[in-house]
Amino acid sequence: MKPAAVPPKTYRVKSFGCQMNVYDGERMAELLGDRGIAPAPEGEDADLVILNTCHIRERAAEKVYSDIGRLVFAGKQAGKQPLIAVAGCVAQAEGEEIMKRAPAVSIVVGPQAYHRLPEMLDKAVQGKRATDTDMPAIAKFDALPQRKKRGPSAFLTVQEGCDKFCTYCVVPYTRGAEISRPFPHLVAEAQKLVEAGAKEITLLGQNVNAWSGEDDKGRRTGLAGLIHALARIDGLERIRYTTSHPNDMDDALIAAHGEVDKLMPYLHLPVQAGNDRILKAMNRQHTAESYLRIIERFRAVRPDIALSGDFIVGFPGETEAEFEDTLRIVDEVRYAACFSFKYSPRPGTPAATMEGQIAPDVMADRLQRLQARLAHHQYAFNQASVGKTCSVMIDRTGRDPGQWLGKSPWLQSVWFEGDYAIGDLVEVTLADAGPNSLRGVISAPA
Ligand code: 5AD
Ligand code: SF4
Repeated sequence: MKPAAVPPKTYRVKSFGCQMNVYDGERMAELLGDRGIAPAPEGEDADLVILNTCHIRERAAEKVYSDIGRLVFAGKQAGKQPLIAVAGCVAQAEGEEIMKRAPAVSIVVGPQAYHRLPEMLDKAVQGKRATDTDMPAIAKFDALPQRKKRGPSAFLTVQEGCDKFCTYCVVPYTRGAEISRPFPHLVAEAQKLVEAGAKEITLLGQNVNAWSGEDDKGRRTGLAGLIHALARIDGLERIRYTTSHPNDMDDALIAAHGEVDKLMPYLHLPVQAGNDRILKAMNRQHTAESYLRIIERFRAVRPDIALSGDFIVGFPGETEAEFEDTLRIVDEVRYAACFSFKYSPRPGTPAATMEGQIAPDVMADRLQRLQARLAHHQYAFNQASVGKTCSVMIDRTGRDPGQWLGKSPWLQSVWFEGDYAIGDLVEVTLADAGPNSLRGVISAPA
């Protein structure tokens, strides 16, 4: 038992890692809001801190312990300890260990159990530590309150979990088996988000294109059917989705990119590596060639589509020649954006105990060469966009007064000047390209 605590009045949620964690963080915040707990004002200590952790790469657990240490230290200085909750994938994977090693932590809650946070909080206030890393399929979403998030751009988790078991990845263990949320729930949540001001919705899932469900007429449908239905919501202007797996791509989703104007011309489709032996060792269940054929089909229906991907360098046993196949596939696809990582052994995954772990300096060299290629293609994509006129959705103010930053349909950052507000959709002609952003000139309100 810990000493009883005063019920918290303020909270702070610190989300690390992927967009699904950001979504989960927002939903936890909404749960706390329903209980009358308010976000801590900027610069002030919160009574309750939720560390919403990510376990995908590097020393995630160590980062959690150092964050906890920092909170305890700050609490001592302020003469008041916050309640600390650890959520997310590190909580799922190492919950017991966290409870043992970090007595300051009151709550450990996994990504499938956070709908039970309010009860856990009641226990914590009584001085009882609470752990919940159950994985009840779907129960979480049914138990969460209605969406309250305001703002022009919103995330909507439609699918969770992963059955693919890539040999390097912890996600199947921390997020559990693939589940799809029901179609009517998703349409209703999207409607709520639009009523609250969302103009853009990004559908999220570890394997978002594995989503399947029954539409309003009882017909079995994949992600394309959901996208068609969401496109009928008045006021919703832009639809995106991430992250897809090559093996879950179907004809209807590819076709949707040629049919649905609101579906943005952008596809995040990780390939991870360009060599078939490595892809096999990763258990990706596709080849470089089959991946390229999928890309070709997207380009056939939507020639301007921006492609992005994830890459891992230095997977166990990767030779120089095998790494060069990754550079080759990058040159073939000409990605508009990308995320690249050094392989990081994750405890409990098959690859962590494979022979041929790659030396850190080799890994660093490969990452640097890969990133140079990726940067080259990103810049080239930006340069090829100059002269195009497109809609830009404003998401931030720029550095100087009257300057705005937003996203093009191809998810490029575009800055321009004028008298606008966050959330406005404006028509912009792309005038200059830099490696990471473009300058736009206003044409007219879109
Ligand atoms: N090491 C390095 N990168 C990884 N990813 C997943 N697991 C690992 C790992 N063990 C990367 C993959 C995935 C992205 C979300 O993180 O590229 O697509
Ligand atoms: Fe991890 Fe592979 Fe599943 Fe993606 S598809 S979440 S990389 S196991």
